[in-house]
Formats: sequence, C-alpha cells, structure tokens
Amino acid sequence: MNKKTIIAAALASFMSFAAHAQVANNPQWLDNAIFYQIYPSSYMDSDGNGIGDLPGIVSKLDYIKSLGITAIWLNPVFESGWFDGGYDVIDFYKIDPRFGTNTDMVKLIDEAHRRGIKVCLDLVAGHTSDKSPWFRDCSTGDRNSRYADYYIWTDSISPKEQQKIVVRHQAANPASSTYGRYVEANAPRGKYYEKNFFECQPALNYGFANPDPAHPWEQPVDAPGPQAVRRELKNIIAFWFDKGIDGFRVDMASSLIKNDKGKKAVSKLWNEMRAWKDKHYPHCVFISEWSNPEQAIPAGFNVDFMMQFGLKGYGSLFFSRDTPWGKRGYKPENEKEYRFCYFDRDGKGSPKEFAENYERAYNATKSLGYIALPTANHDFQRPNIGTRNTPEQLKVAMTFFLTMPGVPFIYYGDEIGMKYQMDLPNKEGSNNRAGTRTPMQWTKGETAGFSSCTPAQLYLPVDTENGRITVEAQLKDPASLLHYTRRLTALRHQQAALRGNGEWTLLNKDGQNYPLVYQCSNQGETIVVAINPARFKTKAVIPHTGTLHKLLETGKTAVKQANTGDELRLDGFSAVVYKVE
Ligand code: NOJ
Repeated sequence: MNKKTIIAAALASFMSFAAHAQVANNPQWLDNAIFYQIYPSSYMDSDGNGIGDLPGIVSKLDYIKSLGITAIWLNPVFESGWFDGGYDVIDFYKIDPRFGTNTDMVKLIDEAHRRGIKVCLDLVAGHTSDKSPWFRDCSTGDRNSRYADYYIWTDSISPKEQQKIVVRHQAANPASSTYGRYVEANAPRGKYYEKNFFECQPALNYGFANPDPAHPWEQPVDAPGPQAVRRELKNIIAFWFDKGIDGFRVDMASSLIKNDKGKKAVSKLWNEMRAWKDKHYPHCVFISEWSNPEQAIPAGFNVDFMMQFGLKGYGSLFFSRDTPWGKRGYKPENEKEYRFCYFDRDGKGSPKEFAENYERAYNATKSLGYIALPTANHDFQRPNIGTRNTPEQLKVAMTFFLTMPGVPFIYYGDEIGMKYQMDLPNKEGSNNRAGTRTPMQWTKGETAGFSSCTPAQLYLPVDTENGRITVEAQLKDPASLLHYTRRLTALRHQQAALRGNGEWTLLNKDGQNYPLVYQCSNQGETIVVAINPARFKTKAVIPHTGTLHKLLETGKTAVKQANTGDELRLDGFSAVVYKVE
C-alpha cells in the first residue's frame, strides 16, 4: 500500500466511524421511527363510558401496526384532576382509573412490544395539579414535610403581577386562563404560589438560575428543595422505564428552571438527565416540547418538535389566516409575517419562512438528534380545516410529513383525514383545543365505533361525514387517504434516503414558490420530492443528476427532459416522490 492509499483507507474508516457515531448517539430504533400520537380519552373506549382507555388502545394495536407505525406517544395517563386534559397530574406513579391500572399499562407495553411498537408516555415535569398530595402537604406550611420546598411560594409579588391576577379574574373563566405568573392562595405556606399554565398547575420548584437577592423565596438550583424535586423526577422516569416504557415526551421541557435566560441552567439539567438515561436506559428516548431544536437537542433531547410555537415556519405552511391558529399574532403591516399559508388551495403562500428556519435548525442538529414535524397534536388544529378538506389535498400534505427527515409524528385520525371540529365547548380545559381531541372514527354510526355509549355520553362529538371519514370506509377504498398513508410509511421504511439525518436540500429557485421541491440523500441514495398543494398546475426545473424513477405519486405528475435540467410538471393537488438512479 502506498502512502496515498493508506491515508485514503484511514479516512474511509474514520468516515464510517463518524457515520456510525452519529447513529450511536441515539437509540438505533429512532432512525426509522414513525410515531403515532394518541390522546387516550379519545382513541377507543372498551367499557362503554364514553371515554377511551388503555384496553381500548390494546385492542387497536394491530390497526396501528398496519399503518407502519413503530412507536406511540400517549398524552398523559397518570392520575389527574382533569382540568387540563391530564396535564394536571395528581399521582405520577399511578395510571388514572379512567384509563385502567398500572397493570393495564404493563399489558399495553407488552402487547405493543410483541408487535415491534415502542411506547412513550407524557411527562409533565414542570408542575402538578393543585390536588396533588405533594401540593396539599406543602401548602400546610409544615416545615417537616418532605414536600416543604417542592413548590414556589411568596408573600409578596409586584404590583404588575397583582394586576395580572385582577385581569385574569375578570376573564369569562379565570380558572382556564393562563394569564399571569402567580395564584393567590392565602395558604399557611404562603400567600401566592407560582403557576406554570392554569391556576390549578403549581410549578414544581427546580430553582432559579439567577436568584434575585430582593426575592428571598427564589432558591438556587442546588438548594435542597430543587435537588429533591430533581430526584423525584428521576424516580418517576425510572419507575416507568423499569416497567418497559421506551421514552417520554417532556411537557414544557424548557421552562423547569425560572429566570433562566438563554436556557443555560435547564440545558445543564437535561444534559445530566440524558447522561444518566444513556447509562441506565440507553434504548430509551427523551422527546421535548421545547420547539427550539437548536437548544433542545444540544440540551440532551433525542427529538424536538417544529410546530405551532417556537421555531417559526410551521404556521406559514399550515395555518391559514382564517383558521383558529392562523388568526394569532398576525399584523398585516408586519411584512415578515406570512399572509397566506403554503398548503392553501389558492397557492399564494411561500415556503421561504419554513425552509430557511428548518434548514438552519436541521443542519445545526442533525448529528445529535432529530426534528419532528407532527401532522398535528392535541394543542393545535388538524390539517383538515377550512378549505383544505378533500382527500386529494390531505394526501399532498401527508406526502410532505412522511418524506421530510427526522422522526414523523402522525396525530391519531389524521391518517383518515379527521377534521378539526370548529366551535366545540371547552372540555377539561381544552378551550379551543377540543376540536382536535374528538373521538377516533372507526365505523359509521352515531358513536363512530369508538364506544358503545349513547351519543350524548361521548367524550366529544364525532363527525364522520356520513361514514366517509372512518377507518372502516377507507379500508375498503384503495384510493383512500388511509391506504395512501400506508404506502407512504412503507416507502419511508424501504428507502434509506428518507430515514435518519441525511442531507436535506431545498431545490426551489429563489422566488419560485410552487411546487415545493426538495432532495433527501442518505447512505449514497437520493430521493427527490415535489409537492403541489395548490389547485392549479405548476412546474419546476431541477438540475439533472440522474434518471428520476417514480416511486409514488398522488394526483397527476410528469417529468420531462429540458435543456436546463429535469422539468417536473404537477397537476393541481398532486405530489410525487422520485428516486434518483
Ligand atoms: C403543553 C401541553 O401540550 C398542553 O396540552 C398543556 O395544556 C400545557 N403544556 C400545560 O401542561
């Protein structure tokens, strides 16, 4: 071997080590994971009380498997006060009786694992219910209580914060308003406690990154109280990991430590958690509700979301300005805000805001973890809303979700195109999130096969459009969104270029908005995807790098050799996936 060959061989072996190391940072199973998010109250009711439960989910695992799903995430299932859809936890070590028992959870884990499906739960790390025994005990002011410093109490708050309490109490339903930081409790332990979201959700005391000397109640993160809370958190995680859980989605993961500018202290906390997890439970994952992958992933999370808040761009794709989540925060005079969302039938949007932010965050994090682009979740509207309401349009959106890098999350029911139901009444603190939490629609009929209860007893109403938006109807129709989704998940599992964290490149020329064209490359393979959510025909020319072999399409598409490259032609509401050969 000459010197040159030796160097080349050394380089190749280093490169393969580097490629391996990239995967080795995270459990291997994450690399081709497709998640399915289940809101447990709404998935399947096995006992006829109108509310979903764990045995109900178990009975649908074969269906979930048939979708190509490899992991599920369940919204909170621990004993709750049910003032915020389970995010007000009373007992982290106990399944809420409405869903079953801890034994039912172990059964669910076993049954899911038998089918090769991982199970992740929701960890509300930052707060409890005000009905939690920890909080009750703490409120008494007993200085011998082990929970004495589990929460943040003060006898004095600023006039500004006092005013916020007044304003909140003027709201139609003060208890389900999130305004302000403190709640007036007049408890022996203190006059006010700090809340995280609703009044009933007192913040757990992880301490303050920079305690203000003028605020003696602000404890440093290494004080005994905050350290005890940390140990409790670890204990909860270990308790469920020991039962076989494969990971946690962590609620409001960035907000545990207060006054933490730049999120340095909370990043340190999660880095320590990650090191501990990797040592004892290396196959398990942490998924953050942080929505800033560039912070969350270096902080130790395996997966972070790009969605309705935080990193900008998701809204500009999916939230039309006349739909509930699109109405927020838009000022026509602000040029930077999008006016029309990209996945709108009128085709007046731009992929710019999304693509720039995504690309930056993706390239900064892809060697460490994964970005998830969920189809929806329990906190924001589904893709089927407003004028985006036909299977053709929804197939185009699904093509996007299932061909982007990272870890896709399908929100239950989006695979059949369930609608966001407008104007539903508040249900267990949902406010306008009720429309996205309605029961899964299995069959035609008054309760859509979700429950044997009466329609009036249903957790929330169903709307199947005469049985069309049901699993039953779509299983029978080879052209349905459900079958198309299955083809997409199968494709994702087959194609290395659609998995893990390869290269993602936007192929749109500057100013060319439709179609959206991007390339995914991984392990020497390349896929080109073109997406046209608009009702009119579009075309784009991309550089010729090889023969484009069509793997899947929806609607009508074609490719033509042009002098300048390959011309992709897409009918209205169409999308296509090519392999470059
Ligand atoms: C985020 C959760 O996703 C949401 O549903 C909940 O209301 C808040 N955190 C408070 O826990």
